[in-house]
Amino acid sequence: MSSISSGRIEQDFSFLVGSSVFGDLHLSRVLEVGCGGRGDLARHLATVYDAVVAIDSDLDCVRMTESALTGLENVQVLQTDARATEFESSSFDAIVACRTLHFVCGVQSFLQEVDRLLKPGGRLIVLNYPLFEVKTAGGNGATMDRQLEGVVSAFCGEAFKEELSAYWSDQVAENFCRFSDPDRRTGRPLLPGYSSEVFSVTIKKVRNVLDLPALLLDSAVCRQFVNKHGEEEFKVRVWDLQRKILLILKREVEDVYFEEIDVMICTDFYIETSIKPH
Ligand SMILES: C[S@@+](CC[C@H](N)C(=O)[O-])C[C@H]1O[C@@H](n2cnc3c(N)ncnc32)[C@H](O)[C@@H]1O
Repeated sequence: MSSISSGRIEQDFSFLVGSSVFGDLHLSRVLEVGCGGRGDLARHLATVYDAVVAIDSDLDCVRMTESALTGLENVQVLQTDARATEFESSSFDAIVACRTLHFVCGVQSFLQEVDRLLKPGGRLIVLNYPLFEVKTAGGNGATMDRQLEGVVSAFCGEAFKEELSAYWSDQVAENFCRFSDPDRRTGRPLLPGYSSEVFSVTIKKVRNVLDLPALLLDSAVCRQFVNKHGEEEFKVRVWDLQRKILLILKREVEDVYFEEIDVMICTDFYIETSIKPH
């Protein structure tokens, strides 16, 4: 569920707000941990909940989020380390971490801080999702879908190898396996005594093949590539992927100039909630 506006993708989290992920409670105060630089999730939380506090340990991220959310009076953006905050104990109804838990060095200290900050009955909501999958637009070409999956994952692994290994370090991978992997066998619930549940939501959106560069730029890995090698080199690499996709769809490369050739972009959100006992 992404929309392109002024050349950038806005991740739309509106499906989450008011969903069962947050329970029936009317949430008055929500903490978003590791908000990153765009404020997309905080913006949606602010449409429903009384007060949203968005934190990140990185000052640049905090400044970018502040400017992205200018004018939203019920959102506060702060530079704070989520492992040791100065918020009062039992002061949040929910704590949300999107694509953040496994990036925190010292996840156990973070979880202890979560336990301190949550009110009884409050919940920790952890969201994780892969970049995206590309499928045929009609969703009825199983063989083509498998071929598309193959070219997209081979392309991303190869084209952005250096950036991927810097971003997805051994420590982050280990954290992911221990704390964030929805299929992990041990370590659930994240906090002792809490009850937990895992939801999965797939967002599907039909997009023109030509939109792929902008969609890929939603990922920090691709943005790092562009910062290092420039936009032209990025477009050349993605064009290689676009040509392979067109081949699988049995379309001529020139067709993209005369008609819209669509693919389905699928994003799987894995959402884990851990509820603090009363
Ligand atoms: C992968 S980014 C996710 C950003 C955003 N939530 C999203 O989904 O696009 C992880 C974020 O967590 C932040 N982070 C990592 N460790 C942190 C900590 N100890 N306290 C607060 N933020 C932290 C990083 O600075 C980074 O902005």
